[in-house]
Amino acid sequence: MEVFTTTNSIKQTLSKEMFYNKTIGFVPTMGALHEGHLALVKSAKKDCDIVVCSIFINPTQFNNVIDLENYPVTIKKDIKLLEENFCDVLFLPKTTEMYPIGLVTKQYDLNGIDKLLEGRKRPGHFDGVCTIVHKLFSIIQPNIAYFGEKDFQQVAIIKQLVNHLSLDIQIKTINTVREKNGLAKSSRNTLLNEEQRKKASYIYDSLKKIKKLFGKLDCSTIKEIIMDDIKKVKGMDLDYIEIIDAHSFKPINNKNNKENAVALIAVFLGNVRLIDNLSLND
Ligand code: PAJ
Repeated sequence: MEVFTTTNSIKQTLSKEMFYNKTIGFVPTMGALHEGHLALVKSAKKDCDIVVCSIFINPTQFNNVIDLENYPVTIKKDIKLLEENFCDVLFLPKTTEMYPIGLVTKQYDLNGIDKLLEGRKRPGHFDGVCTIVHKLFSIIQPNIAYFGEKDFQQVAIIKQLVNHLSLDIQIKTINTVREKNGLAKSSRNTLLNEEQRKKASYIYDSLKKIKKLFGKLDCSTIKEIIMDDIKKVKGMDLDYIEIIDAHSFKPINNKNNKENAVALIAVFLGNVRLIDNLSLND
């Protein structure tokens, strides 16, 4: 695997004749890689001639300084995992390489989706995500870019971004990879202690409970049941729980409105914020 830290060097290499006319699959990440990230690499490897992964902890998408400072860094291990999974190129830029004139974000027209759920709870988060993904797309110029359904809203926003900018990039998604106890794999899971990790399995249990109740009770009643359940879990605080239409992102209230529904949840376990979601239709 070739590792590049500067924009010029990776651009030069990817435009070389050797890479010319080859399909490039791109997996953007913030590192501390786990099976979820590797599933994206594997999927890219199946589809494309060259797989490029980026590791960059993007400061502009963090609305909380403690979250940014605590974000896990495991570069050596990440490089080993990427090599074991046959990634061809790693882009590992410094902050000044990606933000040469300071931590400025652009504002994008994202149809209002960026102001809901994660966007409402983490102001500026999606401007940061879009700014960095836009920059990375311009540098790598992939044919296909890979994202995880674990970040359901992020996928919708990236699709919107690609549309809005008329980029010739296909967005592919993969299902959420989970721990044995159902907890969605996340770089932030390494920040949980053993007790918190056990309690974190309750996130997926709650989503499964919503799925069971969906169509039988009104969504507001279902949400109240889950809120009450979570209140009983010591050390776990609910940030939000929503049942929405997967396309419009509008909340679903009626129990008969059953198409394209997805439940999304965000909780705090101590300082660690975790998100997850589940489609309620399949
Ligand atoms: P990061 O959280 O590192 O995630 C990188 C990619 O891995 C995202 O597409 C995310 O949805 C996917 N992913 C994370 N956990 C997963 C899981 N358990 N199963 C499947 N896929 C999973 O998302 C980001 O970084 C950043 O916002 C980024 C897009 C890189 C922009 O900075």
